[in-house]
Amino acid sequence: MENLRKKIIEIVLAEGYNITAEAINILERLDNPIEKLKKTIEKLRREMPSVLVIGSEHLVYNEPGERILEGVSETEVEEKEVTAEWSPRIEVDERFQKQYRIRGEASEFQNYFKSRYMKLKRILEERGERYIRITDLMKAPRNSEAFLIVMLLDKKDYQNSIILMVEDDSGQTRLIISKKDTELLKKAEKVLPDQVFGVRVTKINNTFLVKDLFLPDVPLKHKTIEKYLRDVYVVLLSDLHIGSKKFRKDYFESFLDWINRSRDSEVKKIKYIVIAGDLVDGVGVFPRQEDELEYNSINQQIEEAGKILSEIPREMKILISAGNHEPVSKAIPQPPLPLEYRKILDKNGEYIFIGNPCYVKLEDRLLLVYHGQSLDDMIQYLPNISYTTLSRDIGVLLEMILKYRHLTPIYGENTSILPTPEDLLVIDEIPDIIHTGHVHVAYAGGYREVLLVNSGTWQDQTSFQREIGLEPTVGTAILINLKTLTVRLKKFS
Ligand SMILES: [Fe+2]
Repeated sequence: MENLRKKIIEIVLAEGYNITAEAINILERLDNPIEKLKKTIEKLRREMPSVLVIGSEHLVYNEPGERILEGVSETEVEEKEVTAEWSPRIEVDERFQKQYRIRGEASEFQNYFKSRYMKLKRILEERGERYIRITDLMKAPRNSEAFLIVMLLDKKDYQNSIILMVEDDSGQTRLIISKKDTELLKKAEKVLPDQVFGVRVTKINNTFLVKDLFLPDVPLKHKTIEKYLRDVYVVLLSDLHIGSKKFRKDYFESFLDWINRSRDSEVKKIKYIVIAGDLVDGVGVFPRQEDELEYNSINQQIEEAGKILSEIPREMKILISAGNHEPVSKAIPQPPLPLEYRKILDKNGEYIFIGNPCYVKLEDRLLLVYHGQSLDDMIQYLPNISYTTLSRDIGVLLEMILKYRHLTPIYGENTSILPTPEDLLVIDEIPDIIHTGHVHVAYAGGYREVLLVNSGTWQDQTSFQREIGLEPTVGTAILINLKTLTVRLKKFS
């Protein structure tokens, strides 16, 4: 029996899937389980490409009536509350699960920026204004007023004005912002290079005077009617940095103790745990990192992480995304953790490995999980925001991401971005929750019906963080009820 279980897990992992414990239990009781598993995988690949976790509901049965033995029909599952037969409802957006490779050709960069522009243009057009192209406005008479959708190439600050060099799909132009208009000036300060935004302008000779400037943003009200939601919880974590001398294993053990033994009614309802990157500290991530490491090999770090995560109750489904410390290619979008490491981390083949960023649906709630590397570039660029003020300003940064509708608005700074044919970093679907990490400051807040979270860290302040004045929030888990979206920031010590 044990061998069969191992074989099932091996096949599932090799095919790039995960499987629930319940589905394994059922397979073990069937005739020809391996044949049925293979048929199930073929069917999923053909008919349900977004499913990555094989649940009991996906199993393909040969003999008529075989399924009845399990006694759970689709409609019954819909009506059940959380019970012993509970099974997770997870959908991972396939676009983020690939390892993209580029050849470094100019056309790839052009196509990437074209995709970024077109996707954000579509979002801006939904606001209802009529936009025209730069070249068409050039031909219009003096004093004509119009709306443009542009990407920022360069910004220059002069005594009385700010000049924006911008382009659209027809050409380039200069936009003038008068410093007398203080409201407009504030908006212009927040516009980042390579970002796409809308402007209302008046034509003066061959340049345009900006009258108003607006970001793609999200509508005030955008939620549709609630779908089918069960009263279950997700715990959001990130930045454990296992392998670092500064990893607070003692704090994390308090967390494990809580999820294993607490009588809190909500603990019993925790069904998902999402880790948004930097599970391990990695090796060679920054100069002289070896002085700060408890384990000098990445395999040892991952082995240790595997031991720690194995203490999480099996009924809680664990999703793991990559960060800048993981042994994965560094450019965003990052693929899920490679198979060689998954085998060490996840001996039973139970975890779900996702890309960074990644859209994931849990119980019909859409999560955008993103480690948050580009927050560093935004901190550098935006006025009045620094690492020392981060515990106050992290919410502002996360709001900005939503207003820009882009996870990495600045191209070519510290965050390397892979020029994929489609710009996957545009927030094309408005999520229910944005879950970030990376800056090690815990936060939970909201902006226009979207829950914004940074899940803090489990690593004490590093020497680098001390130098830049960053005070991390150590030992935080963010607990969210997926039915009501109520949030609890829970500290462990
Ligand atoms: Fe981190």
